[in-house]
Amino acid sequence: MLEIKDLNVAYGKVPVIWDLSLKIDSEAVGLFGPNGAGKTTLINCILGLIRPVSGTINFEGQNIVGMETHKIARLGIALVPQERELFPLMSVEENLKAGAAYIPHARNHIVDSMNFVFTIFPVLKERLSQKAGTMSGGEQRMLAVGRALMARPKLLILDEPSVGLQPSIVIEMFAKLRQIKNEGVAILLTEQNVKQGLKVIDRGYVIENGRIVLEDESKDLAQNEHVKKAYLGV
Ligand SMILES: Nc1ncnc2c1ncn2[C@@H]1O[C@H](COP(=O)(O)OP(=O)(O)OP(=O)(O)O)[C@@H](O)[C@H]1O
Ligand SMILES: [Mg+2]
Repeated sequence: MLEIKDLNVAYGKVPVIWDLSLKIDSEAVGLFGPNGAGKTTLINCILGLIRPVSGTINFEGQNIVGMETHKIARLGIALVPQERELFPLMSVEENLKAGAAYIPHARNHIVDSMNFVFTIFPVLKERLSQKAGTMSGGEQRMLAVGRALMARPKLLILDEPSVGLQPSIVIEMFAKLRQIKNEGVAILLTEQNVKQGLKVIDRGYVIENGRIVLEDESKDLAQNEHVKKAYLGV
């Protein structure tokens, strides 16, 4: 589905991602790493918001490097960003509809897509007219995921979906992501919460200082000595 090869990214003359390669099939993939490792930078490259210095990003067989963001979105990649994800003064319903607005094939399936979102997040159906900004942090994050799903993505990218949520909501959120993946949507998520993140993914990468230092199945990452020491506190 998505294959990144030998990606190098710099801000001005400062390199931040080095020779990075990564692959996502129909699966949930994690990208774990500390603050400043380059997780958001990589996501911004996939979405066409930053142009890499070199390397290729193939999505469904075509190189999307240099393609405009709205065209990449139309190919089937949706993002739940790290922050400022919603229109706070707009209702839940308006926020959901906005998720489909710029995607022609999604615009024709708004009712179906909303029903799909409600099967995953029933709470949103009860809150359709509530202003997004008045919802709890957990509800807002679920709405942000719902809005991204309205674009009918093949690949859903989430940048640190657990940030700022209390532990019980993190567990609930990750169970929802598992459900979404089982419905056939591939997932790439970045996380600093490696312990919970490992439970939701099939396979994961560890990125440190802009380089992939580890790549493995979820269960093997959980047993890896470096992961245990640096990220799991055991
Ligand atoms: N617009 C920018 N201009 C210059 N440097 C930047 C810019 N954005 C990010 N950086 C730098 O690039 C590096 C990677 O940042 P990035 O935001 O990708 O990290 P991250 O892994 O997402 O971190 P976090 O977990 O804190 O979100 C950092 O050293 C950061 O300071
Ligand atoms: Mg980030």
